[in-house]
Amino acid sequence: MADEPAWHHTAVVYQVYLRSFADGNGNGIGDLAGLQARLPYLRDLGADAIWLTPWYVSPMADGGYDVADYRDIDPLFGTLAQAEALIAAAHEQQLKVIVDIVPNHCSDQHRWFTAALAAGPGSAERARFWFRPGRGADGSLPPNDWPSMFGGSAWTRVPEADGGAGEWYLHLYAPEQPDLNWENPEVGEEFEDILRYWLDRGVDGFRIDVADFLVKDPALPDVAGLPAGARKPWEDQDGLHDVYRSWRQVIAAYPGDRVFVGEIWLKPLTRLRPYLSGDQLHTAFNFDFMGAPWNAARLREVIDTTLSSIGASAPWVLSNHDVTRHLTRYGRANTSNEWQDNPGVSDLALGTRRARAAIMLSLALPGSTYLYQGEELGLWEVEDIPDELIADPIFERTGHLVRGRDGCRVPLPWLGDSPGFGFGPADGANPWLPQPGQWRQLAADQQASDGGSMLELYRAALRIRKDRAELSDDQLSWHETAGIAAHAAEGWEATAAEGVLAFTRPGGFSCVLNLSNAPVPLPPHKELLLASGPLDDGRLPPDTAAWLRTEAS
Ligand code: GLC
Repeated sequence: MADEPAWHHTAVVYQVYLRSFADGNGNGIGDLAGLQARLPYLRDLGADAIWLTPWYVSPMADGGYDVADYRDIDPLFGTLAQAEALIAAAHEQQLKVIVDIVPNHCSDQHRWFTAALAAGPGSAERARFWFRPGRGADGSLPPNDWPSMFGGSAWTRVPEADGGAGEWYLHLYAPEQPDLNWENPEVGEEFEDILRYWLDRGVDGFRIDVADFLVKDPALPDVAGLPAGARKPWEDQDGLHDVYRSWRQVIAAYPGDRVFVGEIWLKPLTRLRPYLSGDQLHTAFNFDFMGAPWNAARLREVIDTTLSSIGASAPWVLSNHDVTRHLTRYGRANTSNEWQDNPGVSDLALGTRRARAAIMLSLALPGSTYLYQGEELGLWEVEDIPDELIADPIFERTGHLVRGRDGCRVPLPWLGDSPGFGFGPADGANPWLPQPGQWRQLAADQQASDGGSMLELYRAALRIRKDRAELSDDQLSWHETAGIAAHAAEGWEATAAEGVLAFTRPGGFSCVLNLSNAPVPLPPHKELLLASGPLDDGRLPPDTAAWLRTEAS
């Protein structure tokens, strides 16, 4: 008999964007007390683990992805003692805990960076970052042409002690997020120590922020003229593999299956392979799936490439805190996931139907699934946040051209009839971003026990997934439905319209997803386990998915 797969191969991991999950102390910002009080909700939902976005001390220039102290908790979120209690409480409820680690950059308020500014050019303190003189006669041009991911140049010039204009430093994100220099052994030593610090406190793993950016080509060459799709001098550099080989040894020294999950946006997905070869990361997000349009052929292609090239170890994910919520995306004319700059009218009823079907697809595939908080409530992207409330640095850095990611970070509605929809205590401050009034009916308490709600669909799907052991296998076989198969299909397959995705898993489980415009008959089955919407005279309507038991059990 095959070995039990490691937990992370099949886990359902719930992403907690802490500042928007639940507010325990009434200041309008989500925190550890709020999260701890809601752990039973996550257990009842059926999650196996939580991933927490950064909880460290931070000036919050980028929602906590600008870390000033990696060994302590920001007072906005709570205390170190509360973090330790949270880890223990989660474990008591059988929930593993993954924390975010941000190794590419720190905050400009980190003691290393303030020391680097004070120490001046050529110092050991500056050698932990990328400081360079500017170009041009007076050094007033940035050292190279690299762009910041948030807009503008990736370089900022600093004043020197004499008050004159001085060197520039590299920041691939906001100026408040100086990039660390991974050529410097001190940086690696520091991060291994930070990993141990949290492993000692019981965390089950780390989600590695921009895991493919840490190492730069030290020549810092310009990128103008690089062919489209060519490897950038800040991504996927060979030296990264040594970093992760060393990290793997650190984590392997701890008991339990603790894991590294890489945030790696490289395309195509096959570029993840070297990182997942066994001695580095355990897994990395499957962003091709997250970006795929609502199209049967394209979804199937992504699923096939994933399974054939990296196996099921790259988790299926539909949304996270950086992209447009998938419910909104699926309601648009362009359903592929662009970087938050793909506005357009969204038909939310259509988006909801598709989101219901999409989660049934994700959860039926071999592998693990990451859920982003609020998707189980059917939340949509909030696209009318007033300008003056937008906190995402992208808005300012792009001169207000791109509104950024706050629309998917709006605080969760828990109680339909309480102020702030129960995000915090009734007498607390308003949630840090305003919630749409229509979210009243999406509040968790309003959906609980309503059989037709998104929340109950997630609960039912997760229950079935847990109960059916065959879903932890890594096998999948496609029904070659007409229009998708290269050859003529037979039997039920021949009657299924173009645009139907259907597959079986060993042990008699089938998933059918209709992405066509017309209802289709269901394949022969013993029992309808779950459907994402009502059937039409026994047939599966467009934008609907069904799970079937196809063999006697
Ligand atoms: C990652 C995070 C994102 C953050 C960026 C810089 O992409 O997911 O939220 O802004 O890294 O740390």
